[in-house]
Amino acid sequence: METIEAIRAILEKGNVVAMTGAGISQESGIPTFRGKGGIWERYNPAIYANVAGLFGVFLTKPYRMRDFILEFYETIHNAKPNKAHYILAEMEKRGILNSIITQNVDNLHQEAGSKNVIELHGNMLRFRCTKCMKENKFDEEDLEEFIYRLKRASRLQLIRLIFPKCDCGGRYRPDVVLFGESLPQDEFGRAYVEVENSNSLLLIGTSGIVYPAASLPFYAKEHGVAIIEINPSPTALSHIGDYTILEKASIAMPKIFEFLTPPI
Ligand code: APR
Repeated sequence: METIEAIRAILEKGNVVAMTGAGISQESGIPTFRGKGGIWERYNPAIYANVAGLFGVFLTKPYRMRDFILEFYETIHNAKPNKAHYILAEMEKRGILNSIITQNVDNLHQEAGSKNVIELHGNMLRFRCTKCMKENKFDEEDLEEFIYRLKRASRLQLIRLIFPKCDCGGRYRPDVVLFGESLPQDEFGRAYVEVENSNSLLLIGTSGIVYPAASLPFYAKEHGVAIIEINPSPTALSHIGDYTILEKASIAMPKIFEFLTPPI
């Protein structure tokens, strides 16, 4: 049986869970973290991906930290979901896909219409109070205003913008998981249950080197879940994949799902 046909035979059974990484959003205009032109090429993650490092940069080079944050928000603001995001949303609508477990913080799965999205690393458009845990989610307008103000902020204003005060007296911060921080336990627990109860795991656009997220495919393997990987390059997870399609997500996904009636 051809690879695509074999993959279809697995996916047709339904009960599919997708796990996505930065690669799925690459064709939406968001460079991957570790790829060419990725943000970790220009900003050392040992400094910029953890709280202590970011705090140090803010004290010594506040505008360098502003530029780092601004780059994230502007890129997300300019990005739109691509075919791969829409196909996953449609699979959920048709009852084939149970959930998406994503490491992405760009909100593009939700923008494409996906409902059951488990965000392991948070969401850049959500701010959470570090004291009372209240959430505040940006809409398109909030995001535009935030970017506008970020570009013009003085050093003092930067703090107020990025860490606004909550009614409880605490401060909000972007609700994303930095290196060294724990993953949201509810989300991570849900991800394990979803994987355990699935027939197949569709692994799209992740290098599989960041833990604990990367432990999920191994957990899937242990539970006899079929693993189908879509990535233009082999990854640290390819050896446990039942099938790997070495292609970009927006090329591979329509190929796999063209059998659906009506087509997506
Ligand atoms: N379609 C599918 N996959 C792609 C595409 C594409 N168009 N373009 C690139 N890729 C693949 C790359 O080959 C790579 O394997 O996407 C993967 C992206 O890897 P990373 O940049 O490491 O992103 P990710 O795996 O999501 O990183 C995990 O690391 O720094 C953190 O918190 C950040 O959530 C992120 C985590």
